[in-house]
Amino acid sequence: MPKKIRLGVLGGGGDSLIGVLHRVASHINDNYQIVGAVFNPDFKANKAFAREIDVPLDRIYEDFDTMIEEEMKLPESERIQVCSVLTPNFLHFPMAKKLLENGFHVICEKPMTTTYEEAKILQKAHNKAGTVFALTHTYTGYPMVRQMREMIKAGAIGKIHKVDARYYQGWINEIIHDKKKRSTVWRLDPKKAGISSCMGDIGVHAFNLIEYTTGLQVKSLLCDFNYLYKDNKMDVDGTVLIRMDDYVKGVIRGSQVATGEENGLAIAIYGSKGAFRWEQENPNFLYKLSDTEPTQVYKPGHAYNSKLSLDGTKLPPGHPEGIFDSMANIYLGAAKAIRGKKYNDGEFPTMNDGVRGMDFIEATVASHKDGNVWVKLKK
Ligand SMILES: NC(=O)c1ccc[n+]([C@@H]2O[C@H](COP(=O)([O-])OP(=O)(O)OC[C@H]3O[C@@H](n4cnc5c(N)ncnc54)[C@H](O)[C@@H]3O)[C@@H](O)[C@H]2O)c1
Repeated sequence: MPKKIRLGVLGGGGDSLIGVLHRVASHINDNYQIVGAVFNPDFKANKAFAREIDVPLDRIYEDFDTMIEEEMKLPESERIQVCSVLTPNFLHFPMAKKLLENGFHVICEKPMTTTYEEAKILQKAHNKAGTVFALTHTYTGYPMVRQMREMIKAGAIGKIHKVDARYYQGWINEIIHDKKKRSTVWRLDPKKAGISSCMGDIGVHAFNLIEYTTGLQVKSLLCDFNYLYKDNKMDVDGTVLIRMDDYVKGVIRGSQVATGEENGLAIAIYGSKGAFRWEQENPNFLYKLSDTEPTQVYKPGHAYNSKLSLDGTKLPPGHPEGIFDSMANIYLGAAKAIRGKKYNDGEFPTMNDGVRGMDFIEATVASHKDGNVWVKLKK
């Protein structure tokens, strides 16, 4: 049995949303052990949380720079091998860059950076480092999303002509309608979140899911945002028309003010011979639609699924796996890459997905700002 991969964690403290997902996911396939961290910028809170989850305090650092400095003093056989970056958006770039420059593998939350320019700089640093970089677009880890990707690749729905992805949440209603509150959350602060809230936070997942499942690239887009209030600088709702080709078109709909919606990510892909429909809130059902046959429902764990899908299922059919398992599949793919094992390129989103995501976010903002015009994505 190979030794566990030594994992460092940045952000993801007890006060965070996403920390628990990464901690559980990293443990699910028995590949990783957390050996060092800066869970929180407050050293006291950082140590208290480490104590709570039983991570030894000798490698709980006061801040990120100290962590790099001290870890680099350790022999390679003890040093952190891969670091998960789970902080608010504006810290992804400086942290990931320094990690890559010092030879660490990186698992990074989305959006990868706050600008396209930063993303390109990070890409250069990654090319130079030659280490593994995995971007946690969580939803690509679901077995039924992977099944959709493999079946589309094999021609199951023919030539794609229409795509429709929506990501609707309602949680920001509680904040956005209160003048005082809306200046206190980092997701509505351009200095911390970047230039977009809705498209940067969730629209980019929908964008990534479309490119992941279809294997096609969005070439241009036209976006219409809603900011709801004059003093709010960030989009909280947006509709984006997309063109992937002259005859392949679609729409990405994102909202953080879709009242009553929870984590409503859904995708539909229509082709000349059939279509797929999948919803994140019921992730173990993949619907295959047809004009001439009854609708089929694909479910995880059955032998009829692809290897990529089956590799992401741990229990026999009928034992529902969910978001923790989906993220665990991304950690599993990254572990294979870190250990130098063979892996499928659908096992984790990469630096390239991060660059394209930032291109998408900037294009939506530019399109809206210039009067809802068509904007081409860069290569
Ligand atoms: N993949 C997904 O589906 C998904 C879902 C939610 C959030 N996210 C992403 O995860 C990231 C974090 O989001 P969140 O909702 O957990 O945010 P959050 O505000 O709930 O938590 C952020 C954490 O980072 C810590 N932190 C802040 N500054 C730090 C610093 N200088 N050093 C170390 N730790 C620091 C905070 O103490 C906190 O523990 C964001 O980039 C977000 O876009 C991704």
